[in-house]
Amino acid sequence: MRAQSLADLRCPRCSAALSPSEDQIELVFGRLDEIREGLLVCNSCEEHYPVIAGVAILVENPLTYLAMNYAAIVKEAGKWLSTSFSRYLESKSLDLLSEDTTSVSVGWRRDYSPYIFAHYERLETAPNSEALRRTMAVPYGDWYSEFLAMASRHMNTGDKFLDIGSNVGGLVHRAAPRFKLAYGVDLSFSAVLLARQLVLGEPEPLGSYRLQREGARYESRDLKIATRTNAEFVVASVAGLPFPQNNFDLVTCANLIDIVPRPDQLTQAVHAVIRPNGFFLTTDPYFWHLGTASLESWAGGRNNETSADAMRKLVSEQFVVVDERDMVPWLLRYYDRYCQLFFNHHILAKSAAGVLDDGSVG
Ligand SMILES: C[S@@+](CC[C@H](N)C(=O)[O-])C[C@H]1O[C@@H](n2cnc3c(N)ncnc32)[C@H](O)[C@@H]1O
Ligand SMILES: [Zn+2]
Repeated sequence: MRAQSLADLRCPRCSAALSPSEDQIELVFGRLDEIREGLLVCNSCEEHYPVIAGVAILVENPLTYLAMNYAAIVKEAGKWLSTSFSRYLESKSLDLLSEDTTSVSVGWRRDYSPYIFAHYERLETAPNSEALRRTMAVPYGDWYSEFLAMASRHMNTGDKFLDIGSNVGGLVHRAAPRFKLAYGVDLSFSAVLLARQLVLGEPEPLGSYRLQREGARYESRDLKIATRTNAEFVVASVAGLPFPQNNFDLVTCANLIDIVPRPDQLTQAVHAVIRPNGFFLTTDPYFWHLGTASLESWAGGRNNETSADAMRKLVSEQFVVVDERDMVPWLLRYYDRYCQLFFNHHILAKSAAGVLDDGSVG
């Protein structure tokens, strides 16, 4: 992580500021002001948060996160891990508590390759583009740019941008030129490590990736992604966003609402970090994953209420809805013979603090 990002980052437990710490382990620096490895300490509650291969892990229970993601971290970031940091992890018994590497699905090439394709390539250039062209009568275009354009019509530039559930970073990459600072948060260590490689070129740039054709057959695809110097990605959850209140001009959240345990807490958390007059842009296909969200807390999709109606109502508790698009195709290409096609609902809303007395949007 860039040391300059510390000005914006907060303890996910108590919201106090964070500082680099040398009391348990030495800090390792990379290029410019990049903190490659070490610990951050909360200035108030004194909880320690690790930085591994440049990825700051700002979750409420950092040791639990490390133990539960130990295999993924060692697999993805092992080559950047120093001996002293490995010893620190052992001193906390994280290697003892972690699950066997073979029982954990950590293969980013399979899990994240569809997202790298979705975020940084054009559907029209897919190896199976002919079959896709026949299916999609209209050109698919640049889905993530068109999604962001819904907000740019109302606010063209701003101070600070946040994407929640940023995955491999495509929205932050697109938004960064229009903001002074652009942040992405994701609960997945592998996703944040990849996003930092793709968008910041840290700890090493990723100039190509492997796109699955079928089975064990892959195609190596070159990527030419312009580096963004005003972007940062950290591991964090929407359940404890590590930012001060009233911090962002635009917060986006794509394809996350149907995964989180409590959609109502998501809109509240977003409202807390948006500035007065700021915008919230969200989209979802309302798949509703039972494994992560209890049926009781889904926004619609039950009790005769559609998800679109329930989400509009939920967002309206804190914001004023200013624009909507529905049934927007979102396609995730897995391999030549398998794509997931969703129909998304986009909502653009303005922070209620920007609403005038007569109910109109100021
Ligand atoms: C379906 S993917 C969507 C990724 C990206 N926003 C897009 O539209 O291409 C959901 C992402 O949210 C992340 N995620 C899941 N739960 C999260 C949480 N509680 N806080 C932050 N990110 C989370 C996942 O790791 C994953 O990268
Ligand atoms: Zn704290």
